[in-house]
Amino acid sequence: MAERRRGARGQGPTRRRAQDRDILRDVTTCADAPWDHPDWYDLHDTTWTAGPEREPEHYREAVLALPPLDRDDHLVDIGAGTGKLAALVARAYPRLGRVTLIDPNRDKLDRARARISELLPGTTIEAIVVEVGGGKALPTGIATIATIGSVFMPVMEFRVGTLADALAWLRAAHVEVLTLLRPGARLYDVETLAAPWAHGSTSARRLAMPELVAELLRAGLTDVECVYRFRDRVVLRARRRC
Ligand SMILES: C[S@@+](CC[C@H](N)C(=O)[O-])C[C@H]1O[C@@H](n2cnc3c(N)ncnc32)[C@H](O)[C@@H]1O
Repeated sequence: MAERRRGARGQGPTRRRAQDRDILRDVTTCADAPWDHPDWYDLHDTTWTAGPEREPEHYREAVLALPPLDRDDHLVDIGAGTGKLAALVARAYPRLGRVTLIDPNRDKLDRARARISELLPGTTIEAIVVEVGGGKALPTGIATIATIGSVFMPVMEFRVGTLADALAWLRAAHVEVLTLLRPGARLYDVETLAAPWAHGSTSARRLAMPELVAELLRAGLTDVECVYRFRDRVVLRARRRC
């Protein structure tokens, strides 16, 4: 559509500005309300989100993206839950030196600790019951590798309030994550992003890829990279500066 308008109007600074506005309007309309486009609707109806059947692939790709881990490594799994992601890492790297599991839910954390202890009987495993982003003191500079498995975007989505409130929480959480990392350590963030029709909403919600990348950079992380994506499911890798 924008191409047709470009051809019809010819060139010149005023016309070019009008064309830019048209292009912007086309892009904005599609991004804000993709359901209103009949072709987009027919293509995406019930198929945009990756769904739970993609979860094994999502988590496996996160593990495949890790560097080799060994006796000198300390894994910190943030929002460990019952230990699903940490268990995958433990199975892949059974010589892992140390594991710290963090989650506000004590029952889940007990399950996670039992699971990882079984997989890594000789490894020191610590469980910390705490809500990341809540301002509680966390150990400093311990992780050579840290994972966040489906934690921060769901928390943002289920927060009641504005996007600004949710972002304030996320920023605090990212600062705490950064303090957990040793200089040079890698962070792997396994997330499910906002759907396109949620983009632009000012209510608490999941973030889009550029927004999440911007937040990781804002926290002071570097080398932010997407190492896996299938529709809304992503794995982002980042590093604490040396
Ligand atoms: C969807 S589960 C994911 C659990 C696990 N990482 C996995 O991939 O199976 C989200 C977990 O985040 C935890 N959680 C919620 N708020 C948190 C916070 N502020 N800090 C750390 N963990 C949090 C929840 O208790 C829950 O166990």
